Amino acid sequence: METVTVQLDARSYDILIGRDCLRDLGHLYAERGLGKTAAIVTNPTVAAHHLKPVRQSLACAGVKVTVITVPDGEQYKTLETAAQIYGDLIAAGLDRQACIIALGGGVVGDMAGFVAATYLRGIDFVQVPTTLEAQVDASVGGKTAVDHALGKNMIGAFHQPKLVLIDTATLETLPKRDIRAGMAEVIKHGIIRDPGLVAFLEDHIEGAATLSLPAGQINWLIARQCRIKADVVAADETEKGLREILNYGHTVGHALEVVTQYAHYKHGEAIGLGMTAAGHIAVQKGMWSQEEFDRQTALIARLGMPECVPDLQVDEVLARMASDKKARGGVIRFVLPERIGKIAPRDDVTRAEIASGIRYIQALG
Ligand SMILES: NC(=O)c1ccc[n+]([C@@H]2O[C@H](COP(=O)([O-])OP(=O)(O)OC[C@H]3O[C@@H](n4cnc5c(N)ncnc54)[C@H](O)[C@@H]3O)[C@@H](O)[C@H]2O)c1
Ligand SMILES: [Zn+2]
Repeated sequence: METVTVQLDARSYDILIGRDCLRDLGHLYAERGLGKTAAIVTNPTVAAHHLKPVRQSLACAGVKVTVITVPDGEQYKTLETAAQIYGDLIAAGLDRQACIIALGGGVVGDMAGFVAATYLRGIDFVQVPTTLEAQVDASVGGKTAVDHALGKNMIGAFHQPKLVLIDTATLETLPKRDIRAGMAEVIKHGIIRDPGLVAFLEDHIEGAATLSLPAGQINWLIARQCRIKADVVAADETEKGLREILNYGHTVGHALEVVTQYAHYKHGEAIGLGMTAAGHIAVQKGMWSQEEFDRQTALIARLGMPECVPDLQVDEVLARMASDKKARGGVIRFVLPERIGKIAPRDDVTRAEIASGIRYIQALG
């Protein structure tokens, strides 16, 4: 197994990446001295594929397990569902020594993490991410949240897990579209921090997106994403500065998700379009070379992701960006590439430049 440690003093934790390692959870959990009672939070889709080894492994390690199943879908990442989880935890008698184990994608992980951050003022929490999006991004770094009708991730807390266990074999049951969408965040990591990763993707993106690379290479690729995110989080846990670079592509991307009611794109697909809009803006500003922008565009195109919605209203997207939580005092913030591996937050992107970025991605469709 590959190990990446997130260095956060007393709150440091390991991310362990391997193949067929769900069955190791029990002893890894016990080794860390986590509670003798635990609640696995999952959904029916993930449970059907992956609950059994997780549950058995914990039981073999002497952990008393309650399983809490929540409905599948971003529309259930709400305070209402969180309240149901609180109810189940109370009914099962889980105390402050108990631990919550999130088994699923980013939706389950964000919501179970939020519940762990708030139940009894905070209990331990373990992430077992089963989507590419969650393995390379959502499970690392301690951001937890639920959505509000007026905005995504509007209610949340920073709460670091005690352990992240990534079994790359779980990706084999994931729809191919979710793999491709998650791969957009992998491209993002390359553009913001890692020219070597971009070069690797230029050689192997189809193999990566179809999981047809050798298992060792898949594990290595995922570990590399975790290392990039872990380094950024270790330097800036609560997003006072550097961590903002992880939002590359997310200013336009989130707005696209909101104006299409989360129904049109997978998150990573919106981020792919958002990176294209941001890259275009950076080129227009003379900050980034056309040649590197073209390399980014080619990689995204090779994933074969959907393009823009044709009748997107530029004003509506702009209004959404201004009310996003990444905006500061109504000023829309972007992170824009200067070269592959180097990116900078900016608050000087004009309305005309943003409109040009949006029109650019619209024209792709
Ligand atoms: N906390 C963070 O730092 C962070 C970062 C990125 C994204 N997120 C959040 O993550 C969420 C998106 O996560 P996601 O893309 O994983 O979506 P998701 O959790 O909705 O999972 C996508 C679909 O795949 C299913 N699924 C999960 N694992 C599976 C498996 N192994 N086999 C078959 N089906 C499986 C799920 O049930 C779901 O239907 C968003 O809510 C986003 O806000 C959080
Ligand atoms: Zn993202």
